[in-house]
Amino acid sequence: MDRAYLKNEWLIIEEGFHPGLNRESESLFAIGNGYMGQRANFEEKYSGDSLQGCYIAGVYYPDKTRVGWWKNGYPEYFAKVLNAPKWIGIDVIINGKPVDLATSRIKSFRRILDMKEGYLERIFTIIVARNKTIEIRSRRFLSMSEPDLGILKYSVASFDFEGIVELNAYIDSDVKNEDANYGKKFWKDINREAAPGMGIIISRTMKTDFHVATGMVYEILKNKKRISVRTSVISREKYAGNVVSIKIRPGEEITMIKYVSVLSSLNNLKENLMKDVKKRLKESSSKGYDKLFRAHKKEWGRIWSASDIVIEGDISAQQAIRFNIFQLNQTYTGKDERLNIGPKGFTGEKYGGSTYWDTEAFALPFFLKTADQNVARNLLFYRYKHLPRSIENAAKLGFRDGAALYPMVTLNGEECHNEWEITFEEIHRNGAIAYAIYNYIRHTGDKDYLADYGLEVLIGISRFWSQRVTWSNHRKKYMILGVTGPNEYENNVNNNWYTNSLAVWTLSYTIANLDMVGKENPDKFKRIIKKTNFRVKDEIPIWRKIIKDIYFPYDEDRKVFLQQDGFLDKELVYASSIPPDERPINQHWSWDRILRSCFIKQADVLQGLYMFEDKYDVRTIKRNFDFYEPMTVHESSLSACIHSIMASRIGNIEKAYELYLRTARLDLDDYNHEVGEGLHITSMAGTWLAIVEGFGGMRILDSKVQIHPLIPDKWRSYSFHARFRGSLFEVKVDHIHVNIKNMSDKPLVMIIYGKEYKVPEAAGLSVQSIKK
Ligand code: BGC
Repeated sequence: MDRAYLKNEWLIIEEGFHPGLNRESESLFAIGNGYMGQRANFEEKYSGDSLQGCYIAGVYYPDKTRVGWWKNGYPEYFAKVLNAPKWIGIDVIINGKPVDLATSRIKSFRRILDMKEGYLERIFTIIVARNKTIEIRSRRFLSMSEPDLGILKYSVASFDFEGIVELNAYIDSDVKNEDANYGKKFWKDINREAAPGMGIIISRTMKTDFHVATGMVYEILKNKKRISVRTSVISREKYAGNVVSIKIRPGEEITMIKYVSVLSSLNNLKENLMKDVKKRLKESSSKGYDKLFRAHKKEWGRIWSASDIVIEGDISAQQAIRFNIFQLNQTYTGKDERLNIGPKGFTGEKYGGSTYWDTEAFALPFFLKTADQNVARNLLFYRYKHLPRSIENAAKLGFRDGAALYPMVTLNGEECHNEWEITFEEIHRNGAIAYAIYNYIRHTGDKDYLADYGLEVLIGISRFWSQRVTWSNHRKKYMILGVTGPNEYENNVNNNWYTNSLAVWTLSYTIANLDMVGKENPDKFKRIIKKTNFRVKDEIPIWRKIIKDIYFPYDEDRKVFLQQDGFLDKELVYASSIPPDERPINQHWSWDRILRSCFIKQADVLQGLYMFEDKYDVRTIKRNFDFYEPMTVHESSLSACIHSIMASRIGNIEKAYELYLRTARLDLDDYNHEVGEGLHITSMAGTWLAIVEGFGGMRILDSKVQIHPLIPDKWRSYSFHARFRGSLFEVKVDHIHVNIKNMSDKPLVMIIYGKEYKVPEAAGLSVQSIKK
C-alpha cells in the first residue's frame, strides 16, 4: 500500500493508477458532507472493477431478510442506505472513442484527497488518437455550506491533439446495491426533465417511498472563457444527459463545471421537488464555482480550527489522524437529529449505513469533545425518538411493562439485524445508550436533558435489565444468561462481566437520576412517572436488590475479572502463538474453532474498565490488561483503540503507541484487507480518543477537565483541541512541556497531572511534562 499512497500532512495521494486497488482507492478518497457521500468513482466511463457508491443520509430501503434458518423474533428486513442516483457522470469521447481508464494508455495518473479544503482531485494524461496526449483534470466537492450541492470541475486539455471532444454530462438513476439480498433494484423513476443545459430525474425508493430529485446544470469554458455550444439531449428511462461537442487544438483546454443539487422528501415536500431542485440549480450556478468553493473551504477551516491534531516528527501518524478527523466530519455534522453514523459512513455498503452501538461508545465521545454540544445532543435525541420502537422490540422478544431493548442495527428504531447470537444476545448495546446519556451530561452539564428526555430512556433500559436477569437459587445471585459481549468470538455465554457491569451501573444511574429529577424538577418528574407508568415503590426495590446481588465472574488467584463464566476452562494461550498465515482467524478458522479458543476479537473486559475506570485502581486495570491483551486478536476495528487508551492509563506508553499505530492507519494501510468495502468510520473516533484520552489522558471527572499527558518517544510533539462546557482549548505536549491554550472567553479550570490550575480566558499556561 505504501507505494500506492504517498504520505503527506494534509493530502492522501495515489501516484500512478493502480486498477487492482481501485475499490480501496474509491473508499479512501470518498467525499461527504453529512447529508450525502460519494465514493471516489470516476466521472467518465470505467469498465474496470469498481464499487459505485453514492449515498444520501436517511434514504434507505428495507431489504427482505435473508437467513439460513428462520428463528422467531428475527426482523423481517435489513435496512440499507441505498446507492443513490449517480450525479457525478461525465463521459468523455475523443474523436468518437470513449475515454476509459481500464483500456486507455495512461501516461500519468494522480488522485488526491485534500483534507484541509475538502475536495477530491484527479489529474491524468492519456494517449489518444495517433499517439497524441491529452490531460484530464477533475475536481469535486460536496458542499459543507450548502449540503445538497455536489460541484464538479472537469477539464480536458490538449498537448498536441486536434479533434473533437464530446462531453456527456448525465444523471443516471439505474443504480443498484451490490449487497441487495435478492438482486433487486430499489429505485423507480417518477419524473424526468432534460433540455439543453440541464437534466433532472425524480426517483422514488420502493417500499419506503422516499422521493429524491437529482438535478444538474453546467457551464462550458474554453481556455477559461465561457462559451455556448451545440448540445444534444439524451432522455430515456432513468437517464437524463446532455452531450456537448467541441473542437480542441493543441494548447487548448475545455472545462465543464457541473452543478448538482440532490433534494429528498426528508426535507422537501414531494410535490415541490421539481420546482425546488430547479431553484437550487439556478441559485448554485449563479453563485458560481469559486464562490461555492470558498464557502465550502471556510466551513472546513472552521472545523479544523476546533478539532485538528498536530503531530510533529511523524508524518505517517499526522496524515492518519487528520484522515480520521476528516472522515468523521464528512460523515456526521449533527445538523439533523434524524441522522446517525453508520460504521462505514458513506464509503461503502457494508453494515447498510445503519446505526450500531458504535455511535454511543465511540463516535459520541469524539463529537462531545470536538463539536458544539448540539451535535452530541442530536445523537442522543435520535435514540430518544426511537424509544417507543425499542419498547416494541423488547415486547417482540417477550419483555413487558415498558422495557426497552434498543436495536443492534437500525435506521428507524426497529431492529433489523438477523443473527440470533447478536440480535437477541448482544444486549450490551442497551447499556452503551444509557452510558451515552451520562457521558453527555458530564461533558456538557446539560442536566435538563435528563428531565426532558434522558430519564425516560434510562427507565426503559433499566426495566429491560431488571427483566433480563435470572435469579439463581443455586448461587443466590442474579445472573445474566445467554449473551454475547463485545467480543463476538464468544456466543451464548453466561455472565459476561462487561454486560453485567453495564446492567447494574444503568440501574444505579437511573435510580440516582430519578432521585435528582424528583428533587430538582418535581413537575417534570411527575410527567415522566405518568408517561412511563413507573411504579416507584415496586420497581426501585427490585433494582436495588439486583444491584446488591448481581454476580460477577472473578478469578481469586489472578485477581482479574473474568470475561464470562467458564473462561478459565479454555486453553489460555497468547495470540502471538497463532501462525501469521492464519491471521485474521476469522478468515482462516472455522467458527467452531474460534468459539472454543480463548482469543478475543475486541476489547471486552477492557471495554468495561475503560468506561468505569474511576471505580478501579491502576493496579487492577494493569492486572486485567496484562491478562487480556495477549489473548486479544483485535479483529474488530473498535479494539486496539480501547486497549491503547488503557495502556496509556497504566503508564505503558510503548504498548499504547504500538496499539495506536494499529488503529491509526487501519484503513490507509488496509490492515484487515477490506478497505474496498468501505472505511471504518466509527473506529476512527477511537483513534482520536487514543490520542486525546490515551496519550493526553483527558477525562471529565467531578465536573472538571483533567489531563495527564504522556508522549510517545517517536513524536517530537503533539497537540489537540478539545471542548468542555462551552470552552475550547488546545493542549500541546512535547518531551519537556505541556502547554495549554485557553481559546475561549472565560477562564478554564483544569487538573494537570493531578494538580488544579486556572487558565485565564484567551491565555496560556505551561507545566513540565512527565514520563509516566
Ligand atoms: C464489531 C461490533 C461493531 C460492528 C460494526 C463488528 O465487527 O464486533 O462491535 O458494532 O463491527 O462496527
